[in-house]
Amino acid sequence: MIHDYLNGLINTSKVELGSKSEMGVEQTLILIKPDAFKRKLVGKIIQRFEEKGFNIKQLKTYDFTDEKAQDFYSIHRSKPFFKELVSFVCSGTVVACILEGNNAVSTVRIMIGLTKSFDAAPGTIRGDFGLGISDNIIHASDSHESFIKESSVVFL
Ligand code: CMP
Repeated sequence: MIHDYLNGLINTSKVELGSKSEMGVEQTLILIKPDAFKRKLVGKIIQRFEEKGFNIKQLKTYDFTDEKAQDFYSIHRSKPFFKELVSFVCSGTVVACILEGNNAVSTVRIMIGLTKSFDAAPGTIRGDFGLGISDNIIHASDSHESFIKESSVVFL
C-alpha cells in the first residue's frame, strides 16, 4: 500500500520510477558515495553500468542533509554504525542514479560486490576501487521496496 502511495507521489512529480514489469525489467537506485566522488571515479563507475546494458533514467549530484541521510538509511537506525554511516554520506557530494534493465536490483548488487570493500571480489566495483566499509564507494538498493523508499528520499 505504501509503495503504491510512493509510486504515485513519484509519478506525480514526473519521475518515471515504474515498478517490476512482466518482462523482468526493473529499476534500481545507486549512490556513488563521497569517497568515490572525491576520487573522480564517477565516470568509470557509470560506464560499467552502461556497458552492462542498463539505461540511465535519472542522474544527479546530491548533497545529503543529516535529516535526509537518516531517512535514507532508516532501516539501519538501530545498528551500531548508524551514526558513522550518516556522517559519512553527509561528508560530501554524492551522485544518485536510477538504472533500468533486466533484473536491475539483483544484477547491480552483484556488480557492486560485498559491503566490506576489502572482502569484495576483484571485478566488482567495491572490489576494484575500495577498501573501506562506510567508505565503500557505492550503495545500491537491495529490493524493489528499498528502491521506492530510497528514490523517494533523493528524487522527490
Ligand atoms: P550501503 O550499501 O550504503 O548500505 C548500508 C551501509 O552501512 C553499507 O553500505 C556500509 O557503508 C555501512 N555498513 C555496513 N556494515 C557496517 C559496519 N559494520 N560498520 C560500518 N558501516 C557499515
